[in-house]
Amino acid sequence: MKLPELKIGPFIARIPLIQGGMSIRVSTSALAIPVAECGGIGTIGGSGVPLLELQEDIRRAKAATDGVIAVNIMYAMKEFYDLVMGSIEAGVDMIITGAGFSRDIFKIGKKHNVPIVSIVSSAAFARLAEKLGAAAIVVEAAEAGGHLGTDVPLRELFPDIRKVVTTVPLIAAGGVINGFEMAEMMDKYGADGVQIASRFVLSDECSVSQAFKETYLKAQKEDIVEVQSPVGMTGRAIKTPFIKKMEQGEDVAAPKCKFKCLKKCSYKYCINDRLMASCTGDVENGLVFCGANAYKMTEILPVKEIFKRFVRDAESVYKENR
Ligand SMILES: Cc1cc2nc3c(=O)[nH]c(=O)nc-3n(C[C@H](O)[C@H](O)[C@H](O)COP(=O)(O)O)c2cc1C
Repeated sequence: MKLPELKIGPFIARIPLIQGGMSIRVSTSALAIPVAECGGIGTIGGSGVPLLELQEDIRRAKAATDGVIAVNIMYAMKEFYDLVMGSIEAGVDMIITGAGFSRDIFKIGKKHNVPIVSIVSSAAFARLAEKLGAAAIVVEAAEAGGHLGTDVPLRELFPDIRKVVTTVPLIAAGGVINGFEMAEMMDKYGADGVQIASRFVLSDECSVSQAFKETYLKAQKEDIVEVQSPVGMTGRAIKTPFIKKMEQGEDVAAPKCKFKCLKKCSYKYCINDRLMASCTGDVENGLVFCGANAYKMTEILPVKEIFKRFVRDAESVYKENR
């Protein structure tokens, strides 16, 4: 059966699939444009990118597609409000925010008529986001890549949040890598759509280095580990030599803080530098964030092909039985 559309505020995605935002230029307009063209929501990672560059990227995406373009901004960023305001000024369709919780963002969204989508990992924050005016809510579970807000797996966490969110779309995120799982989340768990990130790292259009993508392709289950992030949260990443050094107790701190990017930082290492290193090809010294199921993926594909397979497989089993 045909998958339903995903309506967030005034925006309609033909395919109920949000490409998860990935910071430090992992998801730029290069990825968000083809995703939006395929009918999903293309998300530019807005954290760790200078504001003018981000605005230029949003404008590039908006000029290139009539599809839906979002920006993901982490609340943990010191420049959170400037990035939000700058993204709105650049004409982004919606703002997706996680890694902490802002109450004020909903007032800004209302004032500027921009839907705010909250990423949460608990029923309490889901309820609060709905009450404060979120246009949609993403339930991000333990299998997700990047910073983690919970250790509860998606199929345990989602039902608790499904019970409390009744008025806005509820999206499932974390570890979804194919259309069968997408249909399962929608049919069996009542999700209105899914948010997927790792699968899109292994796309032709994702702007990370080939070495970053190869690290995904080579990863075995046991190579995917949890790591302490200077943000003060746990993150999920592939065990690179940099992580091994940390585990062995080596000092990996930056000699001096160059970016002053976080509201609170442990300064154990520079997350900006380490993510940028892997994105640009120095995987040895870098941090390679990934979802728990990244090891199951074996191919780099064009975004169009990823969508084709997701929709084909999801629609072959989707029954809308709720
Ligand atoms: C490389 C990478 C970077 C990410 N960066 C961000 C980010 O900046 N902000 C955010 O809210 N989530 C971030 N995430 C989480 C994703 O947007 C997404 O919700 C999650 O990874 C979904 O799980 P999946 O990767 O298994 O599909 C990141 C994930 C990855 C893999």
